[in-house]
Amino acid sequence: MFSSLFKTKSIQSILKEEKGELKKTLTATSLVLLGIGAIIGAGIFSLTGIAAAENAGPAVTISFVVAGLGCAFAGLCYAEFASMLPIAGSAYTYSYATLGEFIAWIIGWDLVLEYAVGAATVAISWSRYLIKLLEKLGVDHIPYQWMMSPFETHRVNGTELHGIVNIPAIFITCLMSLVLIRGMKESAKLNNVIVALKITVVIAFIILGWSYMDPINHADYVPDNTGVFEHFGWTGVMTGAAVVFFSFIGFDAVSTAAQEAKNPQRDMPIGILGSLVICTILYVLFSYVMTGLENYQNFKGEAAPVALAIAATPYAFFQELIIIAILAGYTSVIMVLLMGQSRVFFSMSKDGLVPAIFSEVHPKYQTPWKSNILFAILVSLFAGLVPVSVVGEMTSIGTLFAFVLVCIGVLVLRKKQPDAPRAFRTPWVPFVPIMGIVVCLYLMYALPIDTWIRLIVWMAIGIAIYFLYSRHHSKIRNSN
Ligand code: ALA
Repeated sequence: MFSSLFKTKSIQSILKEEKGELKKTLTATSLVLLGIGAIIGAGIFSLTGIAAAENAGPAVTISFVVAGLGCAFAGLCYAEFASMLPIAGSAYTYSYATLGEFIAWIIGWDLVLEYAVGAATVAISWSRYLIKLLEKLGVDHIPYQWMMSPFETHRVNGTELHGIVNIPAIFITCLMSLVLIRGMKESAKLNNVIVALKITVVIAFIILGWSYMDPINHADYVPDNTGVFEHFGWTGVMTGAAVVFFSFIGFDAVSTAAQEAKNPQRDMPIGILGSLVICTILYVLFSYVMTGLENYQNFKGEAAPVALAIAATPYAFFQELIIIAILAGYTSVIMVLLMGQSRVFFSMSKDGLVPAIFSEVHPKYQTPWKSNILFAILVSLFAGLVPVSVVGEMTSIGTLFAFVLVCIGVLVLRKKQPDAPRAFRTPWVPFVPIMGIVVCLYLMYALPIDTWIRLIVWMAIGIAIYFLYSRHHSKIRNSN
């Protein structure tokens, strides 16, 4: 019984199952844009300020380099798998082929944290920037209670307001789910427009802000540690890396679109690594300019740090426009993460590990629409009721855990099937996967203990579902 938990699915059978139910419409360029669509979002526009103010100071740029390096190691491993097994299930499918059904289930369940909970996090952040926009536009009577979770409060004119439910976060989640149901080609088109807007805002911020930076703000580049591990100094820089790691999440979502790519073997590595490299360069420059425009201490508690930094330039009148562009930018992150979620459950459902409803494809739009609807409801519950810090950290820990397993998967597959054809080979194996494991484990270690407890509880629920439902319905078990 025990050994059957680790039964693997052969690469040949996985590839045979890929019968093209999902429409193949994506090119290398649309894959890179899909990656950028998922990557640039709440992380860079919100967390940069927090990491600078609380952990790293101007050296938040170094935090971005460290987090980007961890992602690059994992990204190289993802690229090898994605070129070998261009299937919608991504890390879930890779582990089914290498580490066996039980670990595959664990990773598929864990990916819910990355994609569904990640989408909820960005939806909540979207609602916060919406509040900021309404305030900047001087709107009277903003219904704060209906724009926050019941666990959050907001001080208005000396009165503490308690949240009831976050309606804008629910609204944007449902809207993006509808776009996804309409079709991948349409979703990719919308994504391309939004990505162009997002990159323009980031580059404009860097170029326009560059000449207004005050060297005094960068004088104390790595502020001295205060005696508390995560407060500044080099340990602060490393904790900052764990915080800003969130801003890289999403590049791997490209791999979930593998079945919809026209030439996946060649284009998946381009999509994954291309989007990652472009975003890392932009992030380092962006955070350099941001901490050069405004002293890092002033970003403390600031939900919209970009608006504050812009105020230090003569372009302050752009603030509202930039907030609108950021709001648009977040929508594509939510969309791509929701897409990733529905595609992973699509594969798990094909294997019998979750109910068949998750792989029912719409007769006209050829999208897993019922899955999209179910996740719209689930993500709305999180987005409407849970505070942003809880969901944000859960997303990061879940993603890091998935990255560790993918890196292990590459090591296992090189040993078990050294000669299987790979259109893309991770360079310097075992150095790259081992470094991926080390850096990601370190970043997990830097996250708070509550987040670890939530991860363990989530996994315990998943394991219970596996033993009560999935193993009895598993197709490869029932086929022998
Ligand atoms: N990387 C995405 C963001 O920062 C999840 O919003």
